[in-house]
Amino acid sequence: MELKRAFKALGTCLIIAMLFTTACQSDKVYPPQIEGDVSYANDMQPFFNAMCTECHNGTGIPLNLLADVSYDALFTGNYVDTTDASASVLYVKIVAPNSMESYASDVQRSMTLKWIEQGAKNN
Ligand code: HEC
Repeated sequence: MELKRAFKALGTCLIIAMLFTTACQSDKVYPPQIEGDVSYANDMQPFFNAMCTECHNGTGIPLNLLADVSYDALFTGNYVDTTDASASVLYVKIVAPNSMESYASDVQRSMTLKWIEQGAKNN
């Protein structure tokens, strides 16, 4: 009888341990850490060129992200908030589900946040 109870307890422990491990494994490190300074010209604009300008190219959809106009467009349209980086429309749009989320990778999301946190420089 004692043995049966011990096995039952062991089983419960195993199930809890398994649930715990599964939960931990599905926990992605988010956002991924980006080292160093983010450059607008070398990091942000190439990201826009690759993922955004197919639509955001000044032909109807708000926010023109084409090179030469993108930096000014981000500021005149208030898409960037350097005092509260994660509240920036540019960032919110690429992290919010059912938005532009699918056009950015986790690394690109982190890079964007970091660029804003670093002062959203035209560097
Ligand atoms: C397939 C077309 C398409 C692509 C690609 C796309 N967008 Fe958009 N985006 C839209 C449309 C349409 C809207 C307007 C509707 C809305 O806000 O969802 C929009 C709206 C936005 C807005 C809000 C503009 C405003 O004034 O309300 C931002 C910011 C934005 N997109 C950023 C991005 C970024 C950054 C990328 C690239 C990572 C991107 N989008 C890629 C179609 C696209």
